[in-house]
This record gives sequence, structure tokens and C-alpha cells, in this order.
Amino acid sequence: MYDLLVKNGAVVSPSSTITCDVAVKDGKVAALGVFEAKEASRVIDASGKYVLPGSVEAHMHCQAPFQGCLGANDFFQQSVSAAFGGVTTFMDFANVFKGKSVLEAVKERAKEMSISAIDYGVHGKFVESPPEIIAEIDELVQFGTPTFKMFMTYKKEGVMSDDETLLRIFKKAKAVGGLPMLHCEDNAIAESNIEECQRRGEMSWVNFAKCKPVLCEAAAFAKAVYLAEYVGCAILVVHTTNRDALDTARRAHAKGQPVYVETGPHYLTLFDDLYEKEDGYLAICSPPLRTPAEKDALWEGIQDGTILITGSDDCTYDVNEKSAFIKKGSDGKWIQDFTKIVNGLSGIETRLPILLSEGVSKGRVSINRVCAITSTNIAKIYGCYPKKGVIAPGSDADIVIVDMDKELTLSKDVLHNNISYCLHEGFQVKGCPVATIAGGRVIVENGEFKGEKGAGRFLKRSIDPAYLARYGL
Ligand code: URP
Ligand code: ZN
Ligand code: ZN
Repeated sequence: MYDLLVKNGAVVSPSSTITCDVAVKDGKVAALGVFEAKEASRVIDASGKYVLPGSVEAHMHCQAPFQGCLGANDFFQQSVSAAFGGVTTFMDFANVFKGKSVLEAVKERAKEMSISAIDYGVHGKFVESPPEIIAEIDELVQFGTPTFKMFMTYKKEGVMSDDETLLRIFKKAKAVGGLPMLHCEDNAIAESNIEECQRRGEMSWVNFAKCKPVLCEAAAFAKAVYLAEYVGCAILVVHTTNRDALDTARRAHAKGQPVYVETGPHYLTLFDDLYEKEDGYLAICSPPLRTPAEKDALWEGIQDGTILITGSDDCTYDVNEKSAFIKKGSDGKWIQDFTKIVNGLSGIETRLPILLSEGVSKGRVSINRVCAITSTNIAKIYGCYPKKGVIAPGSDADIVIVDMDKELTLSKDVLHNNISYCLHEGFQVKGCPVATIAGGRVIVENGEFKGEKGAGRFLKRSIDPAYLARYGL
């Protein structure tokens, strides 16, 4: 007897869409085929709908002290919001500062995340590279956390990794099967521009984006790619926004270099005109929002395989945190100073609907490609495939049922992220998750959350050496 049958849905993988039933037993996918309803304790009819592997969100920052703020959600609320967005596994970063053991920080993070209703993984983070910290990379890989982020900017905030640190970490990662994740913005360009704005007293939201232009990101991207080529290691570049960076990635891919590229749905749907608005501070994130032309370049990157993964880079700061360090003038308007705004946008719940709608409904990509960039490829690159990222016998029964006919107007009122605004307010989507199953348990159904606080399990990961040796999955 199965615990659950998801019947008659179109089961999606990156390479196929097959109408069949999915049988679930003890939290795992037991079989795919055609079954009688009486063979299971519970049946969900997915006729007319798509059945995808649960989304994997490998890029978010929850309860992460940054620029004086922490975020509105704890990890349980974050998992609720994630589940409504079809996410069944998420990963967050250890809170690391100079002098702190990265492994200890990873273990602390895992503990904090244990209140989650969905499975969770942890990434390390490096801000320095003394020998004892470099030695920890081996232990991180053993602990099941083989991915770690480094920032190429934010020197003043004390979180930037300098070039020597990048090189040391790249070398060690190559030796032990780790995957460095890079935030690519050139610090010299960003900080000299910011200092110039400060000298001139030109601190508008618009100038934030001007301080960190496309070439600021593309220069750092190219440096990271060349350093990785020199070392011969794989890298993953997060939140990529522009054609110049993608062209660098294409040149690397042509040589077989394992440079994995992520973009986020906000760069596909929101643009730098938001910074012209009075409340443009709510849209401050790094790299900044770009232009519709760059959005087209990103879609080309998704279509031709230059971009293999998406991440929401979710930072759920409410208005009180975004505006904590700015004041209004006597005219009732904000005295604009972009250096006082915490960087980051909310988006974990909207990633899948935005990609279904902008991608599949608008004919840019197939639902199979959406499956790849929201789940399968992420599970592969981050080292948790085929436990995650696929609906196949033996895999965790992490499933999202999608209704491509369902239309929704995005708004703060329909999201579950604990904040009082939505940058996508009024944005129409066609194609939505309607039920989410995590480890065989139905955790979202009929617009209701049915999951359990603390039900999520720590995900030990290990990356296939083939993905680290050569580009491709
Ligand atoms: O603005 C952003 N993206 N904030 C979150 C931290 C990061 O750089 O990913
Ligand atoms: Zn970043
Ligand atoms: Zn991030």
C-alpha cells in the first residue's frame, strides 16, 4: 500500500514530460506508472496539471546580520513562504566574520535552520584565509557543506575576500571537491564611485545603480573566471545580471571551464527605473537592477544554457529595516542616501511563478527548462542529486503540482513572507504552484499551509567530481 498517489499529472524532468502517476511510500518516490486509487491511502488528482520536482532554493539570506539588519522571517516562516512558492529544499549561508571558524558558523546555522518545515542545507562563507581557516574547507566538505560564498566587494563592511584569499580558497576547493560561489562586483569601481558620490553629496537611489554599473560586475566576473582558469577549479557565480558577464561565461564554457552561472527572477522582471521612485530604496540590491535589454540577454543565457540555475537571493527586509537609517526632510520626502539602505530583495515565494509565467506562458522556454533551472540543475551543482531535483524511484518525494492556467496578481496580500510591501505589486502571472509535497507530506494544498515546524532535515551534500572538472551536468 502506498502512502500517496499523485494521479494523472504530466510528470516533468529536464528532458521529458510524461503523463503518469507518482506513487509515494515512506517519504520517497516508490514508483512511476499507472496505479489504482485503492493502492494508496491518499490520492491527489493532478489531471490537467504538471508535476515537477520540488524547487530547490540555494540562494537566500534569512536571519543574516547585514548592514545593521536581520530580516523579517525566522526559518520556519521562511519555509512557509518557500513552500507556497513550490520550494521543498532551501539553503542559507553561515554567518561568518573575521576570526570566526567557518565550520562552527556552519554548524550554528544548521541548528538555527532546524525549525524549518522543509529540508535545508548550509553554505560556508569566507572573508579571510589564514591557514587554519583554509584547513577547514576539507572539514566543510566532509560535513556535507561543500559550497561557500565569497564577496568581491563590501571591503568597508569587512566581508570582502581579497585576491589572495580567492586564490587560496580556489586551490583548496579544487583539492577537496568544494565549489566556491562568487558575488562578482569590483570593489575598486564600486567604492571609488560611492566615495565620489559622497564627496558631491549625490546619494540618490538612482546613483546607487550608477555606482555599480554593468562593468563593475563584469570586471569582477572576468577576474573570477580567469583566476579559476588559472587554478583549474570550478566556480559558481551568483546573481548574474548582464550580457558582458554572460559573454565571459560563454568563452569559458567553450573551453570546457566549469563556470556555473545563476540569475534571479528579479533581474528578469524589475528594472533600474524603480530607483527613480520615492520608495526606490526598497529596490536596492546588489548587483543593482538593470535594464530591459539586460533582461533579454539573461533570457538568451537561459535558453542557450549559459545560465543553468536560478536563485531568488531572498532577503526579506520589511520597510522598517530598509528605512531604518534614513530620515524624511521637512517636505515629507526621504533624504536619499543609498549607503544607508540594507541591500537585498524578497523573492523566495515568487521565483517559480515568475519563471513559469515569464518563461513558459510567454513562450521563452519549455516547462522542462524551468524544471532544470529551479530544481534539477541546482540539485546537481550543489550536490544533492538524485535525492533532490528529480521525480524518480528512490528520490525524496519532493513534488510541486503546477497549474499553468492559474492566473494570479502578485501582491503583498497573496504572499506569506511577513513583510508589508511587494516589489511585484500588481504583476500578473499565469502559471502557479497549487500544491507542494515535501518528503511525502502534503505541506501546501488549497491555499493552506499543512506543514510542521521542525519537520525539515539537514541535507548533507557532496558534489559529483565530473561537474567540478568540466562544464556541464
Ligand atoms: O543585495 C543583495 N544581493 N543582498 C544579499 C547579499 C548578497 O549579496 O547576495
Ligand atoms: Zn551576493
Ligand atoms: Zn545573496
